[in-house]
Amino acid sequence: MKRQINDISVASGHGFSGPKEQTLDTIADAIQQHGYVVLTDALNSGLRECLEARIQALGHSDWKLAGIGREQGFHLNSNIRTDHIHWITGDVPAETSFHTWMETLRCGLNQRLFMGLFDFEAHFSKYPEGAFYQRHSDVLSGRNNRILSMVFYLNPNWGTEDAGALVLYSGTENRPIETIAPKLGTLVLFLSDKFPHEVMKANRSRFSIAGWFRGAEQR
Ligand code: OGA
Ligand code: MN
Repeated sequence: MKRQINDISVASGHGFSGPKEQTLDTIADAIQQHGYVVLTDALNSGLRECLEARIQALGHSDWKLAGIGREQGFHLNSNIRTDHIHWITGDVPAETSFHTWMETLRCGLNQRLFMGLFDFEAHFSKYPEGAFYQRHSDVLSGRNNRILSMVFYLNPNWGTEDAGALVLYSGTENRPIETIAPKLGTLVLFLSDKFPHEVMKANRSRFSIAGWFRGAEQR
């Protein structure tokens, strides 16, 4: 069962702090100016290590082949994406701490930019060697839509030869505006409706967390 962050606003007890005010200012300024931001070393190392341990601990049966769309519109389509996912529910401390960090970010951005971010959902992603996700938009048709996308990478010692970049485009442009290596600790945030993007094939398994801050349900 997927759970929303609103249900898990209690601190984890791990004592990991959320983003600092200064980090929130940096993120808000960049989103306001450019619509996206790439930060290396965004989360504190303790939390990052917990998330690395958590993703490594997931067993074969915890991963599901990812699909496209939601609810009735959901289907598997291996022409478009071949990654495996595991929804983050907050059932273990690493996930709760991650949600707490993102909750601080959500409130910080609402305060600074009045973005109306209402809740957050995220999953771990595993791209086995050769897996990919073609150019797509994160905005799904449906009621509570995605406003801000986030990706956090969990790959130590990632080199250029490992490939697997996240390529960001602006609107309908064909030329990429950013090519981001999925290095451990890198956090990417972008406006979901402005930046189509794609995950290039990697030469080794590639791990990330993909998440979305959504608006309130529309009637
Ligand atoms: C996604 C996505 C990017 C990545 O899951 O929607 O675009 O680099 N992921 O993992
Ligand atoms: Mn995406």
